[in-house]
Amino acid sequence: MDESKLNEITAMFEEKLSKAATVSDIETLKVDFLGKKGHVTSLFKEMGKVTAEDRPAFGEKINRVKEKVESGIKEFEKKISDKAVGEKINRVKEKVESGIKEFEKKISDKAVYEKINASYCDVTLPGKFHEIGHRHPISSTIAEIVEIFGRLGFSVSEGPDIETDYINFDALNMFDWHPARDMQDSFYAGPNAVLRTHTSGVQIRTMLKSEPPIKIVAPGRVYRLDEVDASHSPVFHQVEGLLVDKNTNFAAFKGIIASFCREFFGADRKVVFRPSYFPFTEPSAEVDVECISCKGRGCAICKNSGFLEVMGAGMVHPNVLKNGNIDPEIYRGFAFGMGVERIAMLRYAIRDIRDFYMNDLRVLAQFR
Ligand code: PHE
Repeated sequence: MDESKLNEITAMFEEKLSKAATVSDIETLKVDFLGKKGHVTSLFKEMGKVTAEDRPAFGEKINRVKEKVESGIKEFEKKISDKAVGEKINRVKEKVESGIKEFEKKISDKAVYEKINASYCDVTLPGKFHEIGHRHPISSTIAEIVEIFGRLGFSVSEGPDIETDYINFDALNMFDWHPARDMQDSFYAGPNAVLRTHTSGVQIRTMLKSEPPIKIVAPGRVYRLDEVDASHSPVFHQVEGLLVDKNTNFAAFKGIIASFCREFFGADRKVVFRPSYFPFTEPSAEVDVECISCKGRGCAICKNSGFLEVMGAGMVHPNVLKNGNIDPEIYRGFAFGMGVERIAMLRYAIRDIRDFYMNDLRVLAQFR
């Protein structure tokens, strides 16, 4: 037995070890070299062939081969297991890293989304609709009446809602016996104060504070002790008119009123002046306009007359001029008064005066 066999086995082991890559490779190596029939084990079996003298030295040499094989295997096993642990650690690390990355992405996606959201404006969306208020049909009717008379040279004058009974009645030639003075027709606000029953008192106030020529319209609220129904309200509106000048007359008055009616109700409307009575005008007239609804043919609205009564009017009574400090020998005047609700109803074919006051937007919104 020589040493070349030992070297051969060592070399063979080193070569195989260098090619080993897996745990099963190393298992094979273990069996092949250290197993019962392994290369190293079989070396010990040859101990008998060595002389007793050489035996210890030979045994030591075999042991060194054995140790080399064992340590080679151990080293490899350690390498393998280090690698496995490393891989395991790496896998954990990757998992942690990808988890963090994913979370960061989610967070930043959210931040970006929120940023976009905060400044986002979809220009294709329909605009937000804001309701805008508008004039009440009574206000716009008054505005229109005032505007038409404005073009005819009339300015606006106003008086108080609470009026003295002197101005509301006496100064207008309505004596104590006049039926309109009956408690049932007016709201008394004190011993000598009434809620004005018409705007005619503004005639007196205007005459008292200004010199002729006078040319005014006076819109305002008036009050009467009426039960509410389709055509009556205890509060409604009138527009009063007054013209006082040296040379005015009934013809001038007819001309002004006719041109107003044509402006307001329509250019082709017929206008009729019907004799009437008011204590504060003489002569007095009621003004009728051809029915808007049937154009004079006769219908329910005009009660088959073909005409609608739109205002009371007349030449200012001399007593009224006197009460206004105006000399009836020098000046003449004409006056008129119209109910705003009434003419708005006629114009817009509204059948119930209460529609103006119920504040039902379905009604009011039609008068934008
Ligand atoms: N004041 C009267 C009324 O309330 C209307 C009117 C005004 C009549 C001016 C003639 C002159 O009915």
